This record gives sequence, structure tokens and C-alpha cells, in this order.
Amino acid sequence: MPATKTRATKTRYDRVAIAIHWLTALAILALLVMGFVMTSARPGSPLQFSLFQWHKSVGITVLALTVLRLGWRLSHRAPALPDTMPGLEKLAAHLGHVGLYGLLFALPLSGWAVVSTSPFNIPTVLYGLLPWPHLEFLTAFAPKAAINPVVSEAHELAAWLLIALLVVHIAAALRHHFLIRDTVLTRMLPRFGSETR
Ligand code: HEM
Ligand code: HEM
Repeated sequence: MPATKTRATKTRYDRVAIAIHWLTALAILALLVMGFVMTSARPGSPLQFSLFQWHKSVGITVLALTVLRLGWRLSHRAPALPDTMPGLEKLAAHLGHVGLYGLLFALPLSGWAVVSTSPFNIPTVLYGLLPWPHLEFLTAFAPKAAINPVVSEAHELAAWLLIALLVVHIAAALRHHFLIRDTVLTRMLPRFGSETR
């Protein structure tokens, strides 16, 4: 029976964590582009309608991936950060990841709240196939017209916070790889071929 790797002996993220990380990264890039393009597209145009549908489908996919990812993360330890890394930097990395996880929940949930309280009341059908319910319980707290502008602002603010945190996240990953020259980036990269770990 293979021995379970402890945090100390584990040197790389596992395949599931790596696959979800990069799928999410790709989805986030697409969502940010779609989000900004669709909100500046001509209101009511076919392009705007189509982008909204794709945005909602990919956004809910990110929510599902994040639920899966958090479950995986809590049951599978991540590799320890290099011993050479100062304690404060380790803490910053940890807080940064917690912040990213928080936003990966806050964004889809606030977006879902936006469409659920929209005056246009457009149904959500994920990828044109799977009908997705609206969060009807929100109206127990206040009328839709009062909630909608608040969650819409929250969604936009969360998107800007995510962009800011990602700039730091990506800069930190590149700094580790090119300046410090440790394994922090490569252990999150897929390794094709035989896995010998
Ligand atoms: C991680 C996931 C998501 C990201 C990164 C994201 C990002 C964005 C961005 C950048 C915008 C444009 C910001 C603005 O000017 O308002 C936007 C707008 C919007 N998003 Fe998302 N979004 C995500 C998930 C979702 C989901 C799951 C839904 C709905 C199910 C959704 C619904 C909307 C709507 C309706 C708008 C139009 C603006 C508004 O009325 O607030 N988003 N999103
Ligand atoms: C664009 C959207 C991205 C999101 C939402 C994101 C999110 C995250 C999160 C939440 C973690 C923590 C993983 C965990 O321990 O559970 C992480 C780790 C990591 N990310 Fe990203 N990431 C993104 C893009 C990138 C990019 C473009 C790079 C590289 C240039 C990158 C490099 C890394 C590395 C190297 C780690 C591992 C750090 C460590 O070992 O502690 N990420 N990412």
C-alpha cells in the first residue's frame, strides 16, 4: 500500500489541485473579459445577450469547481512552502490564497444574486442545456429593486479586488521562479509523462 505523503514530504501539488487551479485560471480570464465587454456592449444586442449567457454558465462552473477545490484542499494537504521563505512572506502567501478562495465564492454568488433580482427576470440555462434556479429566498429580506443595485455594485467591486489580488499573486509566482529560483511555480505546473513522486 503506498505511504501517505505528509505535508513535509510532499513536494508538489497533486494532479487534481493542479487541474482545478489552471481550469479556474482560464475561466477567470474569460469571465473578466466577458464581464467588461458585455457591460459595454450595445444594450439588447445579440452579442450582449450571448455574452451574458456564457458569463453566467462559466461563472457557475467556477462556483462548482471552487466547492470541489475547497473540499479537495481540506482533505489533501498542500506542499509546505520553502524553509528559506521568511515567516511574514509565508503568512502573506497564506492570506493571499484565503482571499482568492473568498473571492472565488463571492463573485459567482454575487453574480447569481444579480441575475436573481434583475428587473429583466431572464432565466438562466447553463450552456443552453441546464436550467439554473434563481435565488428566490433573497426577496424574503427586501424587494428585488432594493437588492439588485447593492449586489451589482458588490459584484463589480469583487471583480476589481480579484484583479488586484491576482496581480500580486502572479507577480509573486514569477518572482519565485525567476528571481528566487525556487520550486514554488513549478510545483503548481502540470508535469506530463510519468509521475514518479
Ligand atoms: C468568478 C466568477 C465571476 C467573475 C470573475 C465575474 C466578473 C464580472 C465582471 C468583471 C463584470 C463586469 C463588471 C461590471 O462592470 O459590472 C461582471 C458583470 C456581471 N456578471 Fe459576473 N463574474 C463572475 C460570475 C458571475 C455569475 C456566476 C453570474 C450569474 C450567474 C454573473 C453575472 C453577472 C452580471 C449579471 C453582470 C452584469 C453587471 C451587473 O449587473 O452587475 N457573474 N462579472
Ligand atoms: C487567474 C486566476 C488564478 C486564480 C483564481 C488563482 C488562485 C490560486 C489559489 C486559490 C491558490 C492556492 C492553492 C491552494 O493551496 O489551495 C493558488 C496557488 C498558486 N498559484 Fe494561482 N491562481 C490564478 C492564476 C495563477 C497564475 C497565472 C499563476 C502563475 C503565473 C499562478 C501561480 C500559482 C502558484 C505557483 C501557486 C502555488 C503557491 C504555493 O505553492 O503556495 N496562479 N492560486
